[in-house]
Amino acid sequence: MKKLRFAILAAFLFIGFNKVIAQQDMYFEGITKLNNSNPILWPRENTKFFCPIQKQKISWERKDVFNPGAIVKDNKVYLLYRAEDTLGIHAGTSRLGLAWSNDGVNFERMDEPVFYPDNDEFKKYEWEGGCEDPRIVKSDENIFIMCYTAFDGHIARLCIATSNDLITWQKHGPAFREAENGKYHDLWSKAGAIITKEVDGELVAAKINGKYWMYWGESDIYIATSENLIDWKPITNTQIIEKRLNHISKGRYDVSIPKSQIVLTTALTPRNNKFDSKLVEPGPPAILTSEGILLIYNGANSTSIGDPKYPENAYSGGYALFDKDDPTCLIKRCTEPFFYAEKSTEQQGQMPNVTFLEGLVKYKDKWFLYYGMADSNIGVASFDDL
Ligand SMILES: *[C@@H]1O[C@H](CO)[C@@H](O)[C@H](O)[C@H]1NC(C)=O
Ligand SMILES: *[C@@H]1O[C@H](CO)[C@@H](O)[C@H](O)[C@H]1NC(C)=O
Ligand SMILES: *[C@@H]1O[C@H](CO)[C@@H](O)[C@H](O)[C@H]1NC(C)=O
Repeated sequence: MKKLRFAILAAFLFIGFNKVIAQQDMYFEGITKLNNSNPILWPRENTKFFCPIQKQKISWERKDVFNPGAIVKDNKVYLLYRAEDTLGIHAGTSRLGLAWSNDGVNFERMDEPVFYPDNDEFKKYEWEGGCEDPRIVKSDENIFIMCYTAFDGHIARLCIATSNDLITWQKHGPAFREAENGKYHDLWSKAGAIITKEVDGELVAAKINGKYWMYWGESDIYIATSENLIDWKPITNTQIIEKRLNHISKGRYDVSIPKSQIVLTTALTPRNNKFDSKLVEPGPPAILTSEGILLIYNGANSTSIGDPKYPENAYSGGYALFDKDDPTCLIKRCTEPFFYAEKSTEQQGQMPNVTFLEGLVKYKDKWFLYYGMADSNIGVASFDDL
């Protein structure tokens, strides 16, 4: 009897143990690039648009299309994608085009961009680099919130815009404009991935501890919070220390750090000898799951301290899982990327060996992940479950 009990216990331990091992790199195992359909969007020469700043008709998506944000609306998948012309000091100002699909793979698109630098109060941030890398979420009041990068040619600023229909947008300017009296206004900032949760199959901005949260940054991944999804405030290490002092055990952290040493709190940093040795940058909006907050991120390989398996400056896709009650607290991270450049259309282009993951939707019971292929075309991959 004792032996039997031991055997049962041992079997349980063994199964339990295996499960833990198997979970290590469990996410996205079945992900499939839809090679036969990729690229799903590519540059076009004949679509023209009257640029209000250039005051002429231009081929706004002639050079490259890439880095799309994705969202489901009225039972269709919509992509807002970055498109570059061939003009100006950067030989390619970025604007955002809109495309839609009934199957997640075959897209129709508008002939003109829906979002672009204009003669408005935001031109000083957007001209003439343009409007780049949109990520979209829906609020629980059915408003679409877009995080995008405004590039004036010197500083990239993470900006916010809102819309009811994805076509007409209201610009709100830099996300950190108001935070701490403008302290972060001129900080290089990019890539806002707001934390969402699945509501009836759609991804909707989620509140955690009474606030909205986003991961952002292009080097390390930082964190910011917001009350209204428009004005965001970066989290600094003093806030973390104060919070932990309040919530965990008093006296274990030194709160007497001088002001000059207050720095942005990092959620994720690059790692030596890995695919993400050079930089980490958020991918699509993050998702609250029962196990934690799942963030897909893009990691770049360094020429000096990276993983020799991946090319120099290659961008590959990884994931990180954070505590669902504390988005600053990392609990698990992939060891190898689950996504990287393999095909010639990913290895050659404006930025060779770059797959840049940016749009994610759940649509007709499948997940679709949209990505930039070498900053030149747009591709899609799909998987069944998270
Ligand atoms: C990626 O980075 C590693 C380490 O720095 C470097 O050895 C390697 O050459 C890079 N990969 C390639 C194929 O360039
Ligand atoms: C897509 O192409 C890559 C690289 O050629 C290959 O490794 C992968 O298996 C292909 N996927 C499918 C579903 O055919
Ligand atoms: C991209 O990766 C391929 C395969 O690893 C490599 O042969 C090629 O040299 C890389 N291209 C660049 C520009 O680094």
